[in-house]
Amino acid sequence: MALVNMKELLRQAEAGGFAVGSFSVANMECVRGVIRAAEECAAPVIIQVAEIRLPYSPLHIIGPMMRSAAEHASVPVAVHLDHGKTLDCIREALDLGFTSVMCDGSDLPLEENIALTRQVIEMAGKTGAAVEAEIGRVGRSEDGSDAPEEIASVGDCFRMDETGIDALAVGIGNAHGLYAAAPKLRYEVLEQLKGKLHAALVLHGGTGLTDEQFRRVISLGMRKINIATDIFMAQAEACRGGDVFRNIGASVEAVARTAAGYIKLFGSEGKAGTT
Ligand code: 13P
Repeated sequence: MALVNMKELLRQAEAGGFAVGSFSVANMECVRGVIRAAEECAAPVIIQVAEIRLPYSPLHIIGPMMRSAAEHASVPVAVHLDHGKTLDCIREALDLGFTSVMCDGSDLPLEENIALTRQVIEMAGKTGAAVEAEIGRVGRSEDGSDAPEEIASVGDCFRMDETGIDALAVGIGNAHGLYAAAPKLRYEVLEQLKGKLHAALVLHGGTGLTDEQFRRVISLGMRKINIATDIFMAQAEACRGGDVFRNIGASVEAVARTAAGYIKLFGSEGKAGTT
């Protein structure tokens, strides 16, 4: 039984100066692949599903599967709702036992984003789940649809931190999906926040960043890094030809190899025993 609260993983990452990989999952193959990678690397890990993906992977089906997979894992696994946009969806995730939820009010004016986040903190307080908020805006939606990126204001990050959130996603020039070229990240935002927030910093849009960019943001305090596109591409590529059962095995393996690469890069390998 290794389902854990995301707060624990973030605390451990802060103490150890590394980042926990937070991998998006769309189906059983993704879930099994990510957990296999974490077990092989003896690493803590987060599995997440975004609200915008639920038409493909309904929460009442994928949620219990994620939870069960976490409970049966030999490493600590947190189960997270990524980019929760509506209170109904966030409530459903909490009722299903998710140990972390994101309240994404990044397209709202600051005061409304803070008010919404406070509502979610109150809801999550009933189960003890962690809460992630967003300041600035990660470019493009999680499903690749257009959304302009916006660099986080440092002052707004401090205001959001005062709500008592556990994790804060900041826009620093990052975007979901494939970049035409590795983006120019605004490290100065992280430099001004380093060591001054109660919340752990979260980087979205991990696919396509360079190893050097990952190392630098981790050294500047990033403690959770989201990867989605690369996981989905690995699975899609593994599924050419063959029968369904061959494809399941190949998908799990491809997702595991992809997730393991990030786990090693993020410094979380070998950290499973220390929670
Ligand atoms: P990528 O699809 O760019 O890896 O981004 C993942 C993410 O941030 C999910 O919230």
